[in-house]
Parts: sequence; C-alpha cells; structure tokens
Amino acid sequence: MKEYNLTTKMRAYQWEELSDEQRSLIEIAKEQTERSYCPYSHYHVGAAARLANGVVIRGCNQENAAYPSGLCAERSALFAAGAQYPDEAVEQLAIACFTGGHFTKEPGSPCGACRQVMTETEHRYGGKMQVLLFGENETYVFDSAADLLPLIFVSENLKG
Ligand code: THU
Repeated sequence: MKEYNLTTKMRAYQWEELSDEQRSLIEIAKEQTERSYCPYSHYHVGAAARLANGVVIRGCNQENAAYPSGLCAERSALFAAGAQYPDEAVEQLAIACFTGGHFTKEPGSPCGACRQVMTETEHRYGGKMQVLLFGENETYVFDSAADLLPLIFVSENLKG
C-alpha cells in the first residue's frame, strides 16, 4: 500500500490586491447574479469568462421545476463561450454568489460537474484558465482550473 498526498494551490486576495482586469471580470460576474433564474434555491450565481480575444461571455444559473434540468452559472458561461467562439481559449473565469440579500462573505465553491467542465475547457485550448472565486471577505484565485480538480479525468484517460 502506498499513500499519496495530493496537494493543490490557491491564493486569497483582498479586493484592493486584485488587478484591474480581475476586478472588472468579477464585477461582471456580480452583475450577472441579478440575471440568475433561481426561483427554487434563491441562490444567485453569476459567471464571467474572458476569452483570448478579449470578449467576455456572461453566464448565470438557470433553474427548472424539473430540478436536474437546470444548469450552473459556470457551465452556462463556458458552454455559451464554446458555442459562440469555439476557437478562442477561455483565459479567465470569475464567479460570484448572492443570497439572503448580499454577496456571500466567503467565495462560493464550484460543484464537481462544473470543475470537470472547467478542466476540460482548459485542456481543450491547451493553456491555463485562471479561476476567480469572489467573496466579500476575500477572493480565491486559482491559476489553473486543474487546481480545483486533482486527478482530473481528461480525454487521454479514454485511451486507457
Ligand atoms: N450553482 C451554480 O450555479 N454554480 C455552482 O458552482 C454551485 C451551484 C447553482 C445551481 C443552483 O441553481 C443553485 O446554485 C443552488 O445549488
């Protein structure tokens, strides 16, 4: 038996410590929480994806009375980016969550399915995608989506 210790890396920033580019993408993710369709959870999630050509694609969670038919904010943004700009890498993704009348103090944590899609997006374009998880207290910054998903399943795994 061997034991492996899987480690990952993230940094936590105060708002003033973020770059203008990071702050502007987060502002769009925050704005997107207002467009979220979440009559069931009342948990508003906004996402903003910056592409290599500078275009920002917006997303937000879309719920449904048939619960599993809904979609998270992150995937709504990444799938829209893939549909509209299939040849542009996604370089940065910002996420913000709003519930109970305020943005969450701590950053929201992307679900497993979104992490899988985030890592596939990164892999697809062969570069890193920086992930910004906004919280009122601090913002978590991951330099690569893969840092959010150790032991990622990628297309190479299919080859055995
Ligand atoms: N949600 C997201 O949009 N992103 C996440 O990473 C976690 C959860 C949404 C799904 C659902 O509409 C609501 O938040 C509550 O789970």
